[in-house]
Amino acid sequence: MRDGILGSGLMGGKLGTIFARAGHEVVFSYARSSDKLKRLARDAQGNARAGTPGEAAKDADAILLAVHWSRIDAVLKQAGDMSGKVIVTCCLPMDAGNTKLIMGTTTSGAEELAKKVPRAHVVLTFNTVPSEVLFGVFESKGKETRPSLVYCGDDQSAKNVAAKLIHDAGFDPVDAGGLRIARYTEPFALLVGELAYGREGGPELAYRFERFGE
Ligand SMILES: NC(=O)c1ccc[n+]([C@@H]2O[C@H](COP(=O)([O-])OP(=O)(O)OC[C@H]3O[C@@H](n4cnc5c(N)ncnc54)[C@H](OP(=O)(O)O)[C@@H]3O)[C@@H](O)[C@H]2O)c1
Repeated sequence: MRDGILGSGLMGGKLGTIFARAGHEVVFSYARSSDKLKRLARDAQGNARAGTPGEAAKDADAILLAVHWSRIDAVLKQAGDMSGKVIVTCCLPMDAGNTKLIMGTTTSGAEELAKKVPRAHVVLTFNTVPSEVLFGVFESKGKETRPSLVYCGDDQSAKNVAAKLIHDAGFDPVDAGGLRIARYTEPFALLVGELAYGREGGPELAYRFERFGE
């Protein structure tokens, strides 16, 4: 499976590394220095390379979008035609200072993103966990219970691709429904952030849903 990373920072750098270590072919793109992209590709210890956003998107089975909300238009422009592509986004529609969501309840960042790329299939996931926990979850992959990770989207085959990424990263994929459910998962991500960064115990935090009565 080939994954193009658009935004190689805390989330994209770590997830791209994890996907490469899980055996995917990865192209890291969109950082302020090409040296950083090359270093990420080298350190991933897998089938990874640095490229432009256009190269990352071309022939990708999944495109991970992992930039600040304010950079979305710029990176999409550089990536070029996204027709038919699966865009897995972890982006949250935050203000410039990352203090609050700038939309919600009647729409969501993921839905607004989907309007920008109407011919692509958008799935929202990885938005509800802090980057600090990603390597720990991946390294605990073999354990009996895995943390949950919610995802939502409107195209079933795109959701299947996202579920594979989630599974390969060490999480238990939880299908939360259509893309409009992003209206719930985006504020939930801020709750997780509050627990991770604002409370004792540190940011290596994931969550797990359990059903009772079955
Ligand atoms: N961090 C988390 O724990 C977390 C959790 C859930 C959701 N999210 C969401 O995920 C998204 C990505 O977050 P993040 O923390 O990974 O952000 P980040 O660390 O700031 O990464 C953003 C990437 O975009 C690149 N970039 C920014 N401006 C650029 C420019 N003008 N030209 C080229 N590249 C540029 C950065 O380059 P450099 O590498 O050179 O800085 C970096 O690689 C955000 O929407 C955030 O809300 C984050």
